[in-house]
Amino acid sequence: MKLPNGPQSPAVLQMLRWITSPMSFMETCAERYGDMFTIRLQSKSPPLIFVSNPEVLQQILTNDTKGLEAPGDTNLVFESLLGKRSVITISRAEHQRQRQLLLPPFHGERMRSYSQIISDITEKVISQYQIGQPFNIRSAAQAITLRVIMQAVFGLDEGPRAEKLQHFLGEMLEKGSSVLSVALLYFPALQRDFGPINFWGKQMRRQQDADKLIYEEIRERREQPDPSRTDILSLLMAAKDEAGQPMTDEELRDELMTLLIAGHETTATAIAWAFYWIHKIPSVRQKLLQELDSLGDNPDPSAIFKLPYLNAVCSETLRIYPVAMLTFPRVVRTPLSLGSYELEPDTIVIGSIYLTHQREDLYPEPKQFKPERFLEQQFSPYEYLPFGGGARRCIGLAFAQLEMKLALAKILSSQVLELVDNGEVRPKRRGLVTGPDHPINMVVTSQRQVKSPILQTTTV
Ligand code: HEM
Repeated sequence: MKLPNGPQSPAVLQMLRWITSPMSFMETCAERYGDMFTIRLQSKSPPLIFVSNPEVLQQILTNDTKGLEAPGDTNLVFESLLGKRSVITISRAEHQRQRQLLLPPFHGERMRSYSQIISDITEKVISQYQIGQPFNIRSAAQAITLRVIMQAVFGLDEGPRAEKLQHFLGEMLEKGSSVLSVALLYFPALQRDFGPINFWGKQMRRQQDADKLIYEEIRERREQPDPSRTDILSLLMAAKDEAGQPMTDEELRDELMTLLIAGHETTATAIAWAFYWIHKIPSVRQKLLQELDSLGDNPDPSAIFKLPYLNAVCSETLRIYPVAMLTFPRVVRTPLSLGSYELEPDTIVIGSIYLTHQREDLYPEPKQFKPERFLEQQFSPYEYLPFGGGARRCIGLAFAQLEMKLALAKILSSQVLELVDNGEVRPKRRGLVTGPDHPINMVVTSQRQVKSPILQTTTV
């Protein structure tokens, strides 16, 4: 079997580069070896083929159930945090069943019911910042998205248990974003206490504290069922499989933790990047405000959701620095031709979302932030894939887009913000996803009144 070319350095060095500077590692490999290359992160593990060719990505993502599979056991780096029964770490029929259970709360009517929650929480969080007081926009966005997901999952975002849980989750993610923490995820043998360097032990204790709160909530709900509740935990507790069996407490814990973790840091980072670009490029802010103001006071959330320029800004934000660099791995199960290669069973194939979004032929001047691309052209799901695709496509796609758009609209319409420092911010690894390489600090300079659309037309 001839694999695509790739670096010949020892696996341990490739792993080091992957952990410390994944984006520049991928870019160097793509420059040298093209849009399919092979890397090795551990000498005894199967080779990993990174793909950023849209035709091959289409083959991979539409072939999920045939020669290729997207099994949960290749997502072991997530297991210590999310558990063995998370939708991310399970496979095949069990994975499909669990996805079917999790999807409904993130679609249709149910999704629309989150609009008010998102707007109310955004208003509460942003009103805490005084005029002239600098703040980190990613932390503010995280406060919004964590409270929103708590509300969607548990039906509560206030009260002692919710606040404690928010505190533990926030700490787990913050401490888990360091290079050391990522290294521990990739080397399970190091996942134990080392005397005073008790990093892993402390992380596990935070997790146990969070688990205790989740199990307490599950127990209370079992003891006092309330059929009028519509939150995700209630739906999951009522769900039964084909044999009539409900989910166990462990299954519930793992799915709740998955939604809480997958559902808040990613979206918060995307919102923070959007604020950065909107304020970095004055013409983007101006166009966006004009579009938002055209809806007048108190616009309908569905009208906000459909705004074309706002949509283009959010799409470009997730193109230029995608929060998730990669799709989950796919494994070759039966001999398969992929591009011009014949792959043997057990080979692992991964879509590089980052490299695909940086292709010069699809996105001329790829390092420039240009929302107009998304107004001028339609990209296929294999050219633009911030949420992955196929059998593991992100469950929270519509939820994340709604949250991004409503939070941006709410804040931009009511506050005038500025970047404290106009220097360049670049992406870097933060845990298993990416984020800004240093805090993006912003300041509210004044409150803003929405300009009436009638006044606007008369003054033009
Ligand atoms: C901007 C925000 C987000 C981004 C960029 C993002 C990105 C992704 C990507 C790339 C995948 C892997 C897809 C694949 O391998 O094909 C994924 C999976 C997943 N995402 Fe998201 N996500 C976001 C927000 C959310 C939200 C809000 C939730 C839930 C509340 C969520 C829940 C999940 C789950 C459960 C999976 C695993 C699906 C499976 O294994 O079947 N994500 N996401």
